[in-house]
Amino acid sequence: DTIEWNEEAAEKAGYEHFMLKEIHEQPTSIQDTYAGKIFELEGKVILDELKMDEDQLRSLQRVTIIACGTSWNAGCVGKYLFERLAGIHTDIETASEFRYGEPVLCGQVFTLAITQSGETADTLAAIRSSRSYGCKAAAITNVVGSTITRETDSVLFTRAGPEIGVAATKTFTAQLIVLYLMAIHMGTVRGRLSPETAREILVGIKQLPGQVQKILNNKDAIKACAEHYANVQDYFFIGRHLNYPVSLEGALKLKEISYIHAEGYAAGELKHGPLALLSSETPVVAIATKGHTYDKVLSNIKEVKARSAEVIAVANQSDTEIDKYVDTVLRIPDCHELLAPVLSSVVLQLLAYYTAYARGCSIDKPRNLAKSVTVE
Ligand code: G6P
Repeated sequence: DTIEWNEEAAEKAGYEHFMLKEIHEQPTSIQDTYAGKIFELEGKVILDELKMDEDQLRSLQRVTIIACGTSWNAGCVGKYLFERLAGIHTDIETASEFRYGEPVLCGQVFTLAITQSGETADTLAAIRSSRSYGCKAAAITNVVGSTITRETDSVLFTRAGPEIGVAATKTFTAQLIVLYLMAIHMGTVRGRLSPETAREILVGIKQLPGQVQKILNNKDAIKACAEHYANVQDYFFIGRHLNYPVSLEGALKLKEISYIHAEGYAAGELKHGPLALLSSETPVVAIATKGHTYDKVLSNIKEVKARSAEVIAVANQSDTEIDKYVDTVLRIPDCHELLAPVLSSVVLQLLAYYTAYARGCSIDKPRNLAKSVTVE
């Protein structure tokens, strides 16, 4: 007798696709990424890899984040975090635009590349260009020994393990974790963030693995929602503040693997164009987690409903109000408002996955896309 041995099936550990396996690895990849760095009792983060002393961090005037694709979406979250928690003006640049732009840079600007693979040609070229202006550069990457690690002054690793699915999932949430740690570290050193507030967020970060697990344990509602809307032609995703990049990433995941046209929009921008496209045929996913823009998003949801579009809300567990205004609610556990992007993103990854699954798409290897784009 011979035993059938299929290497790829073994690597998938019982999951039908690498993407689903990688979505399920997030409780671990998040924890591995912050392990040894969080000292919540002191309200402190230790981030020696950044290789910047306290004086350097205090005198930082500007950060320019450079990235592509999903990493760019993580960078957008980073901008809000660096500005809010550390009080540092932060720009987020698309690498392919930055490299042919005429950036106004000087030695005072700190550039941060975010790249899962560490090999994206545009990101590497943009970082080289920024360093020619005398900028110090750091990188957030998932790959030890990748090219970006040789092109920057310091490297912060996401510890997500190898990601095979072309659509980035666990590396995105791991990038967010590094950005939280950086923002909290810079904020406390710069005196912008009290140890109490830092502690609150750090305690919240340590709850994320368990909270992600809860979402994974209750994914049936997400699957049912995905199947219900699997045959639409267009999807919109809206959010404000930190949830705006979450909506961009939700739309990107959906278009990458399900081939449904999807757009992420700042909810306040709907009235400047996209409202004209809404109808009963265009579901709108509203990221409506608790926070200072919650009421504004509720108003946007009402505008959307008035155009007879159906609304799927991503909302906190304890939010019972939202049910009155939307067609479907996908829940995330209650958490610190700044941490909701991690949890909402897991919901949107599953929504994209089950939509693509229902449509019979090639989930791990979507058409025309590559995991790592090493040519221009
Ligand atoms: C490709 C991948 C995306 C990724 C992007 C940037 O387009 O398909 O998943 O977000 O490249 O890759 P990087 O390795 O630089 O994060």
